[in-house]
Amino acid sequence: KKSPLWHGRFSDGPDADALAFQSSIGIDSRMALDDVRGSIAHALMLGKAGIIPADESAAIVKELRSIYGELESGSLKIDWAAEDIHSFVEGVLTERLGDAGRKVHTGRSRNDQVALDERLYLRRIVPELQTGILSLVETLSSIASKHTETLMTGYTHLQRAQPVTLAHHLCAWSWPLVRDYGRFSDALARIDRMPLGSGALAGTGLPLDRRLVADELGFSALTENSLDAVSDRDYCLELASAIAILMTHLSRYCEEIIIWSTEEFKFIELSEKWSTGSSIMPQKKNPDFAEVIRGKTGRVYGDLIALFTMMKGLPLSYNKDMQEDKENLFDAYDTAFSCLRIFTHMVASIRWNTERLESSCTGGHANATDLADYLVRKGLPFRKAHAAAAGVVRECIDSGIPDMIDLPLDRMKIHSDLIEPDVYPLLEPASCVKARDLPGGPNPDRVREQIAALNDFVIKN
Ligand code: ARG
Repeated sequence: KKSPLWHGRFSDGPDADALAFQSSIGIDSRMALDDVRGSIAHALMLGKAGIIPADESAAIVKELRSIYGELESGSLKIDWAAEDIHSFVEGVLTERLGDAGRKVHTGRSRNDQVALDERLYLRRIVPELQTGILSLVETLSSIASKHTETLMTGYTHLQRAQPVTLAHHLCAWSWPLVRDYGRFSDALARIDRMPLGSGALAGTGLPLDRRLVADELGFSALTENSLDAVSDRDYCLELASAIAILMTHLSRYCEEIIIWSTEEFKFIELSEKWSTGSSIMPQKKNPDFAEVIRGKTGRVYGDLIALFTMMKGLPLSYNKDMQEDKENLFDAYDTAFSCLRIFTHMVASIRWNTERLESSCTGGHANATDLADYLVRKGLPFRKAHAAAAGVVRECIDSGIPDMIDLPLDRMKIHSDLIEPDVYPLLEPASCVKARDLPGGPNPDRVREQIAALNDFVIKN
């Protein structure tokens, strides 16, 4: 049975149950390759800086490279009884090299080592999440490009508001994802700091070459303060926040998918591959996948809050509480990663019921603002125009006319003498959409510009 790295000052071995309780190898073994990579850079530097003999540095590096390969291929099995991944790797190295292996931890602490491992690991996996975002944006913009003229009503308060197009709505789903992508890039920029050389908390008196390690590992800068470097988990909070925001977006889109697939709306039909049935009600086709994503969003918020709560009371510098960071952050990451993939497939398989979408534009006076704008163009102050259009709406409701486009001109004129026959074509939903051609508006040409910009974003990233 192996002793922990720190057993020297203890005369009694730790209780096995207690040791297992505080072990983190179950989760930090995910960073095994990063741990070895960090150690290779550290050992190389120890040799170059003359802190350990060159031949021993070379032997350590050679053995670590072989350990890296064995971990990758699976021929070296993780020992789940080890205290953490750092202890495990150092243990294997020492078993194989003897005293040379015992030199790898020179000038280093697991406190700066774990900070390095996390940064290396996150730098490796966060771009994979970003790739998932790109493929979702690509999927959305390809659907959008087929629907720049597909009318649908836009909602506020879930009440019919003004006509838009399906393409405009799908672009509205895409831009938040573009911002999510950017938030991950921002977080990665702050992760790009090399913490080794901070030691346990107060650096080291040994002449380590921090710059060399940073260059070797491809970091563009060093952490600025040793106390801060081992007690900083901002990057976990920041990433978990970015992930929680991403999940918020997916959850809202799922909510729309759930509403749209109801008999009442029937805007979409989910493919059978992406729906489930009921064990008792034979007719059911349920949007379970959208619901699970919406549900998992709560779980990710839980991860985020757990991280914040874990950090908020910790005095500087390192505290073992911080070991809990990985469970929550990695869980948030894994959850978002699979939700993104599932959401992308689900959305790609949707059948859009264009007739229902278009018919949602009539019957709710979604063109009332356009009547007001018509009167504004004729010189009426907006507040008066609003009142006149409201009068027309009122009259339609009172006389059971579902859309003001069917109200005869003489009854329109009761509300404003400025209304002429030329108003009717402008009240068509397609005209309402076409009229809104400011940048960012639903006019099909403007939306095609949005789609081009989204495609550009995908290509450039
Ligand atoms: N397993 C630890 C963690 O994840 C590594 C650092 C342990 N340091 C210590 N002094 N016990 O944070």
